[in-house]
Amino acid sequence: MAPKVLISDKLSDAAVQIFRDRGIEVDFQPDLGKDKEKLAAVIGDYDGLAIRSATKVTEKILEQATNLKVIGRAGIGTDNIDKEAASKRGVIVMNTPFGNMITTAEHAIAMMFAVARQIPEASASTHDGKWEKSKFMGVELTGKTLGVIGAGNIGGIVCDRARALKMKVLAYDPFLSSDKAAKMGVEKVELDDLLARADFITLHVPYTEQTANILSRENIAKTKKGVRIINCARGGLVDEEALAEALKSGHVAGAAFDVFKTEPATENPLFHLPNVVCTPHLGAATSEAQENVALQVAEQMSNYLLTGA
Ligand code: MLT
Repeated sequence: MAPKVLISDKLSDAAVQIFRDRGIEVDFQPDLGKDKEKLAAVIGDYDGLAIRSATKVTEKILEQATNLKVIGRAGIGTDNIDKEAASKRGVIVMNTPFGNMITTAEHAIAMMFAVARQIPEASASTHDGKWEKSKFMGVELTGKTLGVIGAGNIGGIVCDRARALKMKVLAYDPFLSSDKAAKMGVEKVELDDLLARADFITLHVPYTEQTANILSRENIAKTKKGVRIINCARGGLVDEEALAEALKSGHVAGAAFDVFKTEPATENPLFHLPNVVCTPHLGAATSEAQENVALQVAEQMSNYLLTGA
């Protein structure tokens, strides 16, 4: 019998086609992931579950997933899956770490430009017919120091793009070797050094016990006055309350956030502050990246379900 896969989030049609071409029966129900009860009622019928971020694969869902062999996350983060509960049941969890890295790095660079030149506020003011030419004085990126926290797949691309913008790049990443840093043209530094020297700080680490609150109140206080902070990685890496206070006091000159401690974020200490640019977790939201991750997850899951590899 052909294995059965449920797609319970919005995933490109190309993924559905790949499953079908590989002889896998596929149910595409892009809104099902938002309905925990309905998902729990049907999950027992499937060998594979393909998701993005809306579906939360909790222990309760897994208890009903008696035939499930693999969960494929079309994207990088797997924080919406209870991995411990999955592995207890022998369910493999796979992600697609490469498909959206360029898109996410580009969003971080876009956010850096946006906060350096106050583009969202200037745009809103111009739409309002105000023509406030002298209100929006920005800063150049050329010659500025960018501190990159986490220089892996996405952070590494950010380093490369920032160097092309003629920025000096400092990287804090315990996994980055000095050789690799030299090849990338970045200076490997300790966190305190980065905090003290960077004009812009951008985060590119997953949310783990080690990275949670990495920009804590104490660490925000160690940053250079006038720093601008960009987070397109994960909510919870930055103390949002402390950052809001530092923005109000003028110690931090601006912030650009795509991710928030609680998502969907309908309220947040950073909202409505004048020098803060916010987007709703759009880091991976390009047609190219969504196509890439959908194709990759469908290929990987098909391989696993058909060959065990
Ligand atoms: C990811 O983990 O791939 C990104 O944060 C994108 C997303 O969650 O949609």
